[in-house]
Amino acid sequence: MDINKKNTPLIEMRGIIKSFGAVEALRGANLHLMPSEVLGLVGDNAAGKSTLMKVLTGVHRADSGDIFFEDQKNIFNSPKDSRKKGIEMIYQNLALAPNLDVVANVFLGREKSSGFIKNLCGWLNEDLMGKETKELLNRLKINIPSLRVNVQRMSGGQQQAVAIARAVAFQARVVIMDEPTAALAVKETGKVLDIISNLRENGVSVILISHRLQDVFNVADRIMVLRSGETIADEKIENTSMDRIVKYIVGG
Ligand SMILES: Nc1ncnc2c1ncn2[C@@H]1O[C@H](COP(=O)(O)OP(=O)(O)OP(=O)(O)O)[C@@H](O)[C@H]1O
Ligand SMILES: [Mg+2]
Repeated sequence: MDINKKNTPLIEMRGIIKSFGAVEALRGANLHLMPSEVLGLVGDNAAGKSTLMKVLTGVHRADSGDIFFEDQKNIFNSPKDSRKKGIEMIYQNLALAPNLDVVANVFLGREKSSGFIKNLCGWLNEDLMGKETKELLNRLKINIPSLRVNVQRMSGGQQQAVAIARAVAFQARVVIMDEPTAALAVKETGKVLDIISNLRENGVSVILISHRLQDVFNVADRIMVLRSGETIADEKIENTSMDRIVKYIVGG
């Protein structure tokens, strides 16, 4: 990647306003994301974090404001559009299929198909998907003992890992994670944070929404704070502190 490109934001959101009826969820929020960067997105409950990400990915349309992706403006009208450009969002409920195994979850909705050949030798595709899943997990340094176990029988951390693998399986450039560690034990949290670091090393940018500042400070390069729908702070991790960020979050 040339230097110019490294200094240009991959994503820029400017002056985003979004209301739901009488609720002003976003009141002029700004955000930018650099290539290979982990951005922590924090703020109190109802600050507008999830809404901002849904506006970014085309789930909601902003009432006003602009979104730039590389040189293009306002091109995401649906999650399908943003996905096509490599932006993947992992929701808090993960949206995994609990009664399917790891391979099936990674390929969910994107099963290897090749017309009638698929019908003739489905097992071959199964083999291929298994092989690709294994390679993917290796690349992300995700250790899951069996790929043929239904995900409902896996731990919360393992399920989170499968959800991440699924998100990055197909050329993701940006992965948005909404509270990925909220329900995890310390050890599993550490693993998820390691995966986030590995994504960055693989050139993927991550937006990490979390109420756990410790996690954000452990893994992020930069942190931004939303309060009542407005961006009120945007600081490099090395130039700030948890105390400072808490003050931004609670206000006053
Ligand atoms: N689909 C919706 N319809 C109506 N109101 C909504 C909708 N989505 C969000 N809101 C409202 O917008 C505001 C911002 O919500 P949002 O979910 O973005 O907050 P958040 O920062 O993600 O909070 P949390 O940390 O609790 O997840 C809240 O007041 C919420 O009730
Ligand atoms: Mg939320």
